[in-house]
Amino acid sequence: MATPHIGAEPGDFAPDVLMPGDPRRAQRIAETVLEDARLVTEVRGILGYTGTFDGRPVSVLASGMGIPSISIYATELFRFYGVERIIRIGTAGGMAPHLQVGDVVIANAAHTDSSVVGNKIPQIHFSAAATFSLTAAAAEAAGVGPGQRRPQRTEEPASGRRRRRKNGSVYVGPVISSDVFYSDRPAVNEALVKHGTLAVEMEAAGLYAVAAQEGKQALAICTISDLLFRDEALSAADRELLFDRAVALGLAAFANA
Ligand code: HPA
Repeated sequence: MATPHIGAEPGDFAPDVLMPGDPRRAQRIAETVLEDARLVTEVRGILGYTGTFDGRPVSVLASGMGIPSISIYATELFRFYGVERIIRIGTAGGMAPHLQVGDVVIANAAHTDSSVVGNKIPQIHFSAAATFSLTAAAAEAAGVGPGQRRPQRTEEPASGRRRRRKNGSVYVGPVISSDVFYSDRPAVNEALVKHGTLAVEMEAAGLYAVAAQEGKQALAICTISDLLFRDEALSAADRELLFDRAVALGLAAFANA
């Protein structure tokens, strides 16, 4: 039986789901990365596919934008389709001064201004955190580990471990999942950077909160597509190329966590 927002039958989704924001990215992942992918839902143009990668069943479903949207899809996947692990594969705006477009942030935690996440448990400031095993496996696949603990450059961040790669660096650290794309509160952004926040996106905290509520697992891996404090952004071609790296890290995390 279909849910209000997903038109698939029970069993149509694999236990592991990659979740980009954009339905066309979901289609691209299905067509270029998965084998034998079949379309399992297209309600509201939110495309979902199930196929295999390296012989393991994997699904991909778009989340749409923002915490309310990803919370709907994650809840329905976890609660009604037997999904166990969701990895968001998204983009984020770089906030920390050392970040460059094309870098990847593995979000081990997600601050948020969202009241649905912040007020989840009365009188508690809920900590939206990624599942450790997925985080560790993604970091390992990226070559980020205790060996990179020591700063190698003076601008090395206080938080967020780093590994320089040909296509940019991969960091593990906190993001801010904001409800507001067109923010007019620069002081808030400055304070977040001072407190070690690496990047801004709009979904991770919602995904982590839903996973915690449903007793399931989640992670967000974000490619830096633009910079908050510098006028720089990825070209469309680079966006796709670098996005594929984040997909590969997500698939490695599923295989090795
Ligand atoms: N803000 C919020 N979400 C984003 C951004 C941003 O600057 N870039 C990519 N996703």
